[in-house]
Amino acid sequence: MDSSNLKCLISREEIESTVKRLAADIRKDYHDKNPLAVGVLKGSFVFLADLVRTLDFHHEVEFVRLSSYGSGTTSTGQITMIHDLHVSIEGRHVLVVEDIVDTGNSIAFLINYLSEKQPASLKLCALMDKPSRRQVEVQIDYRGFIVPNVFLVGYGLDYDEKYRNLPDICTLQEVGEEE
Ligand code: PRP
Repeated sequence: MDSSNLKCLISREEIESTVKRLAADIRKDYHDKNPLAVGVLKGSFVFLADLVRTLDFHHEVEFVRLSSYGSGTTSTGQITMIHDLHVSIEGRHVLVVEDIVDTGNSIAFLINYLSEKQPASLKLCALMDKPSRRQVEVQIDYRGFIVPNVFLVGYGLDYDEKYRNLPDICTLQEVGEEE
């Protein structure tokens, strides 16, 4: 894999300690609630896997998948559900787990969608927040990092389905782009 255009922005060590901090905050609120963690595919799969292995209390895991950006680097703003939940969330304590909130369109759509299903509570944990790109207001209850307006790959995030496997979060410079 050619990594010449990659620059580490957030190291695996920083990610690890932030995941532990988030898990400790989540533990305080959910340790006796058997919450349902809902991962948003595909980007959140690495973060969710690390997060749940740091939670030392009973919880369940489900996934949804929303429409993708496609092969480019900008959002279309048109969100649809590709893979829905297959369990009822009525009366459940639901914690949505996202890798990144960018424009906020994806998560606003999902929070609105899930809130109509009468969960007992509904909160959001996002590893990264890119507030400079926000188009709709989103409440992030557990936030890992605030990140600048640069295109990020690694730790679940892709460019054209590549780089999700990188253990660090990196910026990707297009070929020919100046430093
Ligand atoms: C990314 C990311 C979030 C969303 C954030 O997913 O994982 O779900 O975009 O962007 P927004 O705040 O502007 O809506 P993407 O659509 O790229 O799909 P993927 O998770 O399958 O990579």
